[in-house]
Amino acid sequence: MDDRNGWGRGRPVPAGSPHSPPEWFVEQANVTDSEIDEEFTENWPDCWERAADLLSWEEPYDTVLDDSSAPFYEWFTGGELNAAYNCLDRHLEAGRKTHAAIRWEGKHGEYETYTYRDLYVAVNEFAAALCDLGVEEDDVVTIYLPMIPELPIAMLACARIGAPHSVVFAGLSANALSTRMAAADSEYLITCDGYYRRGDAFNQKSKADNAKLSVEADVETVVVDRLGDELPHVLGENEWDYDGLREEFAGETVEPVSRDAEDMLFLMYTSGTTGEPKGVVHTTGGYLAHVAWTSRAVLDVEPDDTYWCAADIGWITGHSYIVYGPLALGTTTVMYEGTPDYPDRDRLWEIVDRNAVDVFYTAPTAIRAFMKWGEKYPARHDLSSLRLLGSVGEPISPRPWRWYHEHVGGGECPIVDTWWQTETGAVIVSTLPGIDEMKPGAAGPPLPGIDVAIVDENGAPVDPGETGYLTITRPWPGMIRTLYDGDDRYRSEYWERFSDPNAGEWRYFSGDTAAVDEDGYVTVLGRVDDVINVSGRRLSTMEIESAITDVDGIAESAVVGRASKPNGTEIYAYVSTEGRSNPGDGLRRAIVENVESAIGPIAKPHEVVFTPELPKTRSGKIMRRLLEDIANDEAVGDTSALRNPEIVGEIRAGREDDT
Ligand code: WT7
Repeated sequence: MDDRNGWGRGRPVPAGSPHSPPEWFVEQANVTDSEIDEEFTENWPDCWERAADLLSWEEPYDTVLDDSSAPFYEWFTGGELNAAYNCLDRHLEAGRKTHAAIRWEGKHGEYETYTYRDLYVAVNEFAAALCDLGVEEDDVVTIYLPMIPELPIAMLACARIGAPHSVVFAGLSANALSTRMAAADSEYLITCDGYYRRGDAFNQKSKADNAKLSVEADVETVVVDRLGDELPHVLGENEWDYDGLREEFAGETVEPVSRDAEDMLFLMYTSGTTGEPKGVVHTTGGYLAHVAWTSRAVLDVEPDDTYWCAADIGWITGHSYIVYGPLALGTTTVMYEGTPDYPDRDRLWEIVDRNAVDVFYTAPTAIRAFMKWGEKYPARHDLSSLRLLGSVGEPISPRPWRWYHEHVGGGECPIVDTWWQTETGAVIVSTLPGIDEMKPGAAGPPLPGIDVAIVDENGAPVDPGETGYLTITRPWPGMIRTLYDGDDRYRSEYWERFSDPNAGEWRYFSGDTAAVDEDGYVTVLGRVDDVINVSGRRLSTMEIESAITDVDGIAESAVVGRASKPNGTEIYAYVSTEGRSNPGDGLRRAIVENVESAIGPIAKPHEVVFTPELPKTRSGKIMRRLLEDIANDEAVGDTSALRNPEIVGEIRAGREDDT
C-alpha cells in the first residue's frame, strides 16, 4: 500500500472528461505537474522541506523528521520560529503593510478591513496587555469568542508571546468551557459580553461567569465589548475591558518570542461524540508548514487573492484555513460573523460578490442547505470572481457536488474535497486542483508526501472497492503530537490498533472507514461509530445516506440502527425534503429503491421518517445518537448541545403518525 503515495500524479488528464480541471485553471495553478515530480514523492521525508521553505525561520532546523521515539514524532527539529512573525511582521517587511489581511463581515451588514499593518498593531498591543496581566511563555490562554476580529487577534497575540491558545467554540456551554479550562490548567480567559445569533443577542459573559465558578484557579479575564448598550455588562474582580487594555498599551510592540519548532502553538479540544473531550496538541513548525503548503497547493491560495473559508475559527478548519494558512501566505482572508440565511438566504453570495472572493471553502452540510433553498439565491449575484471551491467536514455525495459545481462554480470552478481531521492539523487527502481529475463523491488521492492505507481488521490493505479502515502509514508535519491529557491516551486512541511496535511499524488510525479505487482515490465512508451491522454485514450509515440524498427532492438524511428482536438490526432513515411539506409514499418508494440499487437490498431502510430538519449540534454535525434513541423508543438524553432542540418533539410526533 505504500506505493499509493504519488498515485494519480503526473498522469495525463483524459481530454474532454467532464471533471478534468479546466485549462484556464491549470495554467494559473500554484502547483502543477512539474513541481510534484518523482523526486518530490520519492524523497521522503525531505520533500516536506518545500513546506518548511514557505516559512521564515529564525534558526534553521537541522533534521526534517526525528522518528526516534515514535509515535512521538518531531518535525524540523532544531529550528526556531514564531507563528505571529510569520503571519504578520514578515509581510510588513516585504512592503505589504496596506494589503488587506482580514475582511470582516458583521452580522448586520457592517464590515471592516484590517490591513496587515492594522492587524500587526492590534496583535502587538494585545500581546503587551497579556504580558502585563502575567501571561508567560507556555501558559495556556483560553479564548471563548465568536467570529469577531478580536478572535484571530487574540490567537496571534498568544502566538507572539509563546502562550499556547485553546479556543473553545463560542456556542459551547459553560460546562464545556469549564471542563476544557480545568483540563488545560488554564488561568486566562478571553471572552466577550455577548454576540448576535440570527436576530438575537446572546449573553456570552454569563456563560463564562458560570464556567469560572467551577474552575478552581483565579482566572484573569479579558472581556470584549461586542454589543455595547444592547447588553450592558459589569466587570468583576480580575476582569478587564479589551478596549481599555488596547488603549493602555497603544502603540506598544512586543518582540515575537523565538519558539522551538516542536513547542506547542495551540491546543484544540475535539468535539468528541463520546467520552471526555480530547485535547489535541499542535506544535509551531510542522503545523504552520503543513497549513501553509496545503493552503497554497490544495486551496491554490495566492497572496493577492481574497479567500474565504466559511467555517468558524472555534474549530480546526478555522484555525488552519481562516487564520494560520492564509495569513502565513500573506493573503486576504474573509471572516463572517453571521449565518448563511440571515437576513436572507443569499447572504453568502452577497459577500462573495462584494469582496470578489477568489476561493471559497465550506462544508457539505451548508451545500445541502443551499441546494434545499434553491438556485435562485446564488443566481442573484455575480459569482464570476470565484476560481476554486472547497469542501470539508463530511463526505459530499455526487448530487450536492454537482449542484455546488454548477450553481456556485458556474460549471467552471474545480472543487477540492478535502479529507482531514482535528488531529491531522491540515489536509491529508485531496486532489491537487491543477493536476488531478475530480471524481464527485471521492475525496481524491493522498497528498504527495502522505501515505494512506485502507486496511482490514488485521492491518492488511483491502482490495480496491472494498471497505476498510483509513490509516496513515507515515508521519506528516501537521500531525497531532500528543493529547494534552496524556501520552498513554494518545497512543491508545490513535496508534495501538494498527501498529506493530516490535517491528518498528507505526500506523495512525483515523477512526474513519473508507474505500479506495483503482486510481488510488479515497472515498471516505464515515466514522467507525457510524457503522451499523445488519445481518452480519457492515454498512456505512453515510453510504446509505448518500444513496438517499441522491434522490431528487431530498435535502438531507440520517440513518441509524434499531435493535429488533426478530430481525437483528433494522435501518431507520430520517429524511428532510427540499421544501415539500407532505412528501408521501412516492418519495418513500423512490428512496428505498435508490438505496437498493446503490448498495443492495440489505441496506434498504426498514422505515423512512420525514422531518422538516435533522437535529444538529451547533457545529452542524447531525446528532445520530439522539435519532438512535428515538428509533429505539428510548428516552432521549441531553439535548442542550442542539442548535434546534425543538425538532426532537416533531420527529417523535412524526414517527407516531407514521406507525
Ligand atoms: C472527521 C474529522 C477536518 C476539519 C473538519 C472536521 C470527517 C472531514 C471529510 C471529507 C469525508 C470528512 C471524517 C473525519 N471528514 N472531512 N472531505 N470527506 N469525511 O474536523 O471535527 O476533527 O472531524 O470529519 O469523518 O474523521 P473533525
